[in-house]
Parts: sequence; C-alpha cells; structure tokens
Amino acid sequence: MYTKEEEKAFYELAKQYLNKEVDDLAGSVDELRNVLNYADWKYYVQSEPVLADAEYDSLFKKLVHIEEQHPEIITPDSPTQRVAKGLSERFPAVSHLVPMLSLDNTYNAEDLTDWDRKCRELAGTDEIEYCVEPKYDGASISLIYDDDMMVRGATRGDGVMGEDVTINARQIRSIPLSAKLHSFGIKQMEIRGEVVIDKVFFEKYNEQRIAEGLPPLANPRNAASGTMRILDPSEIRKRGLSAVLYSISDYTLLPGAERPAELSTHFDSLKWLYQLGYPAPIKEMKIFRRIDDVIAYCAEFEQRRDSLQYEVDGLVIKVNSYALQDKMGMTSHHPRWAVAYKFKARQATSKLLRVEFQVGRVGAITPVAKIEPVPIGGVTVSSVSLFNEDVIKEKDVRVGDTVIVERAGDVIPYIVKPIVEHRDGTETVIEFPTACPACKSLLEKQPEEAAWRCINIGCPVQVVERIAHFASKDAMDIRSLGITIVQKFHDLGLLPDIPSIYHIRWDEVQKMGGFGEKSVQNLKSAIEQSKKQPLNRVIFGLGIRHVGETTAKTLASAVSHIKEFYEWDIEKLSALPDIGPKVATSVIDFFARDENKRTITMLEEAGVNLVNDHRGQKPLEGALVGKTFLFTGTLSQFKRSDAEAMAEAKGGAILSGVSSKLNYLVVGTDAGSKLEKAKKLGTVNILTEQEFLELISD
Ligand code: IVH
Repeated sequence: MYTKEEEKAFYELAKQYLNKEVDDLAGSVDELRNVLNYADWKYYVQSEPVLADAEYDSLFKKLVHIEEQHPEIITPDSPTQRVAKGLSERFPAVSHLVPMLSLDNTYNAEDLTDWDRKCRELAGTDEIEYCVEPKYDGASISLIYDDDMMVRGATRGDGVMGEDVTINARQIRSIPLSAKLHSFGIKQMEIRGEVVIDKVFFEKYNEQRIAEGLPPLANPRNAASGTMRILDPSEIRKRGLSAVLYSISDYTLLPGAERPAELSTHFDSLKWLYQLGYPAPIKEMKIFRRIDDVIAYCAEFEQRRDSLQYEVDGLVIKVNSYALQDKMGMTSHHPRWAVAYKFKARQATSKLLRVEFQVGRVGAITPVAKIEPVPIGGVTVSSVSLFNEDVIKEKDVRVGDTVIVERAGDVIPYIVKPIVEHRDGTETVIEFPTACPACKSLLEKQPEEAAWRCINIGCPVQVVERIAHFASKDAMDIRSLGITIVQKFHDLGLLPDIPSIYHIRWDEVQKMGGFGEKSVQNLKSAIEQSKKQPLNRVIFGLGIRHVGETTAKTLASAVSHIKEFYEWDIEKLSALPDIGPKVATSVIDFFARDENKRTITMLEEAGVNLVNDHRGQKPLEGALVGKTFLFTGTLSQFKRSDAEAMAEAKGGAILSGVSSKLNYLVVGTDAGSKLEKAKKLGTVNILTEQEFLELISD
C-alpha cells in the first residue's frame, strides 16, 4: 500500500524519468525500480493504470539497460526479476497450468500479409485455414473444470501466476458451474477467455459513479478487471459482467479415453464448447483460406465495432488446425499461430480552450473542459468532463494544453493526459472557484470527498436540476418536463420547487406562448399520472445523495409510508440489505431537514402516492423484519426457494453472500466456504434446517 503523498511523488518521478536519457538515470536505479513497482501495483492490484503501456515499457527498458551494464546492482526485488508481480494481497496466488501468453499485434494489411507469409513458412504449407474472431477488451480469465465441476477461476496476473478469483467467477452467470465433460472422456480441462462488461451496464455504472461524485472508470476493461477483484461477490452480480471463452488451453483424458474428434481444430473445439453450454463466441467466428479475405473482413468488422454488446479492440486471427499450431509453436511472449489485428484507437488530440464549472443537482461542482471540436470515432467532441479538482491536479492539465482525448466505445470522452512536450509556457493552471458559479455562496468540501459542493439548498441551478430529476424517466416519468422546460418555467416563477409541479398555473403557461393546446394537455395528464407512481420512484426522485434506483427500491420496500423514515435511525437503516453507513447517514440527514419534510407534506397534499402497499413485495411486519438470511448446502426439508420465501414472508431479507450484515446462515449438508466464512466472522447465527423452522414458527 502507498500513501497519497507517496503516490503523488512516484507519479511525478515517473514523468521526470520519462524525459531523461538512460545515462542520466544510472544514479537513480533504486528510485526507478520504486516507480515501476508502484506502476505495477496501480495496474495489477488497483486496476488503475497510471502510465500508458508505452510509457511503462520505456521506463522498464531503461532499467533493463542499466542493469545489463551493471549486473552487480541487480536486486532480487527488481521489477525485472519478478516472477509473480503485483498480485493482489486479497486473493491467493495460483500458478497457471500453462502460461497465459499475450498476442503479437498487427495494425494494417501489410503487417497481416507479412504474418501470413511467416505462417506459411513455419507451417510448411500454403493450405492454412484461419479462424478470425473478436478481440474482446476485458480481463482475461482461466477456468479449470475437474470431474465436470468448475473448480477454479483465476486472473492472468503476470501470465505465470494469477489470482484465485473462483468465488467471483462463480457470480458470472454465463460461466457454467459444471459441464458434462466426463461423457467425452475428459477428466480435467482449462478454458480461457475474457471477462467482459456489457456496454450499457458500464455506462449505467459510470453514471452512478458520477452521481456519487466519483470519477467514472475510463473503459470497460478497467471496470471488468476491477470488478473481478472486489471482495463482495453479491456486488459482482449487479455489475453486468459476462464472459466470452475463446480457447481450450489444456486438458487431460480419463484413463483409457480417446481424444474427442472435435478437439482437432480451434473452430470445432469452440463449437463443441458452445454446445456444452459455454459462452464461446462462435457466432462471431469466421473461417478464411486467403489472407486477403481476412484483411477485407477486418476492415468491414472495424466499421461495425460499435454495434456489439461488448467493447472490442481488434480481431484475433488464429491458425485453425491444432496440428499446425503445435508445429508452429510459440515464443516466450506469444504464440506464432495467432496474431491480433488492432483497431484504430479512438483517441485524438485537441486544445483545451477554457474550463467551465457546472453545478449539479446535489451541488457538486464539475469542471468541464471546452476543447477545440474534434471528431473521435464518428462523434464531434467539444466538451469533456474533468470530474473534480483531484483529477485536474493528478493529470496536471492546464488551459492552453494540447490534450489527448479518448472515447472508449460509446463511453463519455475523457482527457487521457496533456502532451507536456507541446507546452510553450503560455498555458495557465486551472483555478478551482471558491464560490458557487450560480449563487456565489462559498463552496465546501468534506475531507473524504473529491467534489467541492455548493450547500445552498436554494441555489437556483440546483433547484432546476432537482425538479428535472424528480420529473425524469426513471423517477416520476413526467414526459416532456425536461430540463429546458423546467428552466423556462422556473425563470417565470411557475416552478419554484418540486411540489409546485402539481400546482402549475396553466393559464400563465398558455399566455407565455410556444405551448399548443395539445402539448399542455399531454403535460397535464403526465403530471396527473405521476401521482400514482410507486413509492420507490418518489424516493429516487427526491434526489437523496447516494440513493440510486436500487437503493430507493430497498428503502421503499422497508416502510408502508415514507414518513416512517422520520423515526428511523442509522442502525435500522444499515440493517437493510446493501445499505452501508454512508447511504444510511445521507438518508437520515435528508429526512431530518425541515425543508425536506415540508416538501414531502406538500407532495402528500397534492395527492402524490407516498405509501407502499407492498403488492408483490416483502411485508413490513413480521417477527423477522430487519433480519437477514442466507441458505447454503443441500437442504433436505424444503426447497431453497421455498425456504427463502418463508423467511421473506416473516419480513426477513435474503442476502447473497456472507458478510457482517448477515444474521442467520441456514446450513444443509455439504455446506462449504460460506459456512467457513460465517464461522470465521463469528457474528453470524448458524442454524440447522430444524432450528430455522423453529425460529420462523416462533
Ligand atoms: S487468444 C495464447 N483470443 O487479448 C493466445 N485472446 O494479448 C492468447 N483476448 O489478454 C489469447 N479476445 O485475454 C485470444 N478472441 C481472443 C481474445 C483474446 C481477447 C485478450 C486476451 C489477452 C489479450 C492478448
């Protein structure tokens, strides 16, 4: 672990060393090693790379060069001597059955033609079938199946050693937990692939991060590899992870069994995997016999890369026959029978013209860089969020800088970094304002938060944003009451606050022009309809900090009227599934404020639904309200789903993993790691099925 100061110091050293000649670095070998170790840690352990690959390589090569000149100064802990580098302390290190290699890259038709020539030489034949498939941009995973069961999931790590993330791999629904491999004579098999995140989920996840004042993740790859390493498996499930399995790297046969005929070519093997229930990308795989056809396909595929569900950064071309693959072999870095064709990066350079500071719904001030408009991946980009002051400082980006802007997939553009070499001294440091750009009140910042906030509840920009959020699609769904109309009505004094939505003076609206009879009718009826929205939408619409759609549902299902929250305390809130102290504190603060209570009363008077009738939901009364349950092992007295329903019928909630929030773990036979973990925690009540029955009938 590094302190914030150390992180900053290492990052600055890295930048300095990049600009130095190797001979000038001979006296700074220790520091150079420290910098590389730090970059490794950020990349492998934290999934937050601080250096571009090329920058890391350049520093690494400088170190290799110095150590070659002076072998006597090599230390056993030098990054050049590392075997298992940067493994997370949280997941045990495991060795791969066969090293997980990389791929060699090509970027154009010429590279591919060269590669094809080499292939034909190495294979000793001109009759080569190539299989072309997408290169998924996620996190590599290795899965081992033994005696038909998935027994291990591991990250790539450094290719030799990875991290055991079995528990998290099991949360990815597309990964089968068992498969009928024995029936094909297979005892053990290792399958490799990529953990990917659905682009839509990725964007939602980032929206949530932004709403919480956190900088969004740069790309789906970071999101996938970061998520694989989080400790709460139930969280993994919510993040839309999936897997695409693209190779069988190793297998052993049962005694006396013969190799299945399918396992002779890459394509047939993956088709076979697919038929066994594995997520192999066979629909996206194509066979070609001529490299020119491969090249044409690559060009065509690059055009439609955006229409795919997952981010793809290129195509992989593989020799289809396993016999030829074996003949061609591999280097220590990559197989000679496969190559990646990389798509053009969706990056561009532009000039940072100025920075505007925007006020959000909950008062967070977001710096937005206005750049010279530049096309990136088919979209013209002229505004790029800089997220918060820390991001500005960390990147040391200045007004007047030439900056590299990237758009990964359909993802919001972001500034990768300024090109420091292009500076001419006229650039100016970005000054963060001390007062709110809208209402001029002094900004505040909580010590543990990244965002400066305007805490003036009456700040006009925030009011408009809050009203628009209340009316938005995922909240009260009042069609056509978007931000522009809210702003207009607000400026005319027709919409001073949220409850005034239900008291709009329509005669004034008609007078103001621009609104036809029909649109007024539509808006009126959408407003009327919204009164019947379920409580969770109202709670979400109120814009309580840290309360997204999911949390709003959890909150709504815990009460029969919103005003019950006036009496709740942090403890009671924290006992709800997936609600931690941060969210609980924010909810308590919200319901303690008089102006919010007033808003709620006014909504009630306007006829907005504030009750939860719990149709199809969990009851709010019952002996087990606030208690959490988890069932594990094979249950003999009832089906798991029935047992869960029984607990819910008494007000209990079901959790998906063992954590300090779990009150009861009900164990059947063959209970495994969950039982172990619960015992270790020491705070969980462990019940037999009989004890559970007694508890619920009490
Ligand atoms: S084949 C030994 N096929 O790309 C062969 N790799 O540098 C190695 N990747 O991190 C891999 N899609 O996880 C292969 N269809 C695909 C792939 C793929 C994505 C990743 C792989 C590795 C990187 C290769």
